[in-house]
Amino acid sequence: MSSPGDKLGYDGLRLDRTGQAEAFDAIGDRYEEAFPHKEGQIESAEWLIASLPAGSRVLDLGCGTGVPTARQLAEADLRVVGVDLSDTMVALTRKNVPGGEFHCADLADLRPGGPLDLGRFDGVTAFFALLMLPRAEIPPALRTVHHLLVPGGLLALSMVEADVDDFSIPFIGSTIRVSGYLREELREVVETAGFDIVDESSYSYAPAVADVAPEVQIFLRCRRRPDGS
Ligand SMILES: C[S@@+](CC[C@H](N)C(=O)[O-])C[C@H]1O[C@@H](n2cnc3c(N)ncnc32)[C@H](O)[C@@H]1O
Repeated sequence: MSSPGDKLGYDGLRLDRTGQAEAFDAIGDRYEEAFPHKEGQIESAEWLIASLPAGSRVLDLGCGTGVPTARQLAEADLRVVGVDLSDTMVALTRKNVPGGEFHCADLADLRPGGPLDLGRFDGVTAFFALLMLPRAEIPPALRTVHHLLVPGGLLALSMVEADVDDFSIPFIGSTIRVSGYLREELREVVETAGFDIVDESSYSYAPAVADVAPEVQIFLRCRRRPDGS
């Protein structure tokens, strides 16, 4: 029997999370040590904060340790809800951001008709979260974000620029699988999922640990188009 989420493209996909949560459980707060400079992420969340009235509901997808983003949003008087697949990350976020609401869940659980219904949001942040999915799941995940946002709602998204699909890489003592696009393709995927891109920036980033390669990070500031446009 089909569910409403099937319409978003989840139909027939086998969601394979093998090793992904375990990697972030093992990484824990070493994630912050590996990525100490987060200017692009902080600026992108500042855009969201400046664009939304205090008290707006914001969802942080793949919230990690909660630092900097969930904390930054909560300190700006936004109502923060976070979701992450890793128990350890959710426990760290709850400690780091006592005022927020955090769930240990798969972002695919938020699809229409999925097991976790968190209601609608005025803004969503997804910093380096969708890159943890195989490419086939990225458009359905973006359509899920579209569904979770009120019309005109905002999405602050970041990805690493890379032409890879479900590619295993060493990462802070663990192995994770990541996907990405080259910039133009990323823009196309985001626009096709129902968003206007209102701004874009990119940074060359050299992580502070030896086993994570230098990367180009792309930040897109997006606005949800009304349904069907
Ligand atoms: C690269 S980290 C980014 C963390 C945080 N957003 C940041 O930028 O500081 C990716 C996060 O996504 C989480 N994650 C991976 N797959 C996920 C999934 N399917 N659903 C929800 N969270 C996921 C990981 O546990 C990890 O905390």
